[in-house]
Amino acid sequence: MKAIWLDNGNNISAEELNSEGITYEQMDTNEATYKAPLEKVMKERGYVTMDQVGMKADMPNFDALCQKFVGEHLHTDDEVRFVLQGSGVFEIRSGEDRWMKVIVEQGDFILVPANRFHRFYLTDEKRIQCVRLFKDQSGWTPVYRKDLEATAAK
Ligand SMILES: [Fe+2]
Repeated sequence: MKAIWLDNGNNISAEELNSEGITYEQMDTNEATYKAPLEKVMKERGYVTMDQVGMKADMPNFDALCQKFVGEHLHTDDEVRFVLQGSGVFEIRSGEDRWMKVIVEQGDFILVPANRFHRFYLTDEKRIQCVRLFKDQSGWTPVYRKDLEATAAK
């Protein structure tokens, strides 16, 4: 994991991410053993579903999928990801609405809390394989900030 403030380029530590409400941890990706710590997180935090999702450049819907997450959005459920392979970039708003850029790779566990604006895109590697945890799959629809602000302005 590497994290920086987008406005000044300064590094952000795992502790700072935690104090901004973003849970970050490094975990073992060994195929035989990676599930146990995730199941513990599920039990402790009330997640009910675990699945896997992959994105790579030769998928038929690759561009549409990338487009879906690159605009600033939130979800009404937490976004919980554990990276098994590949890498990706989460840009997440801080408590003061600054952008925190978090590059995640194999072994990184990240939890973006519900209702926190963020955006996601792949690195030049154009490939990621993640485990996802959900409390409620229906909370997993992106709600775009531009749409929320357009509604609020009416
Ligand atoms: Fe998201």
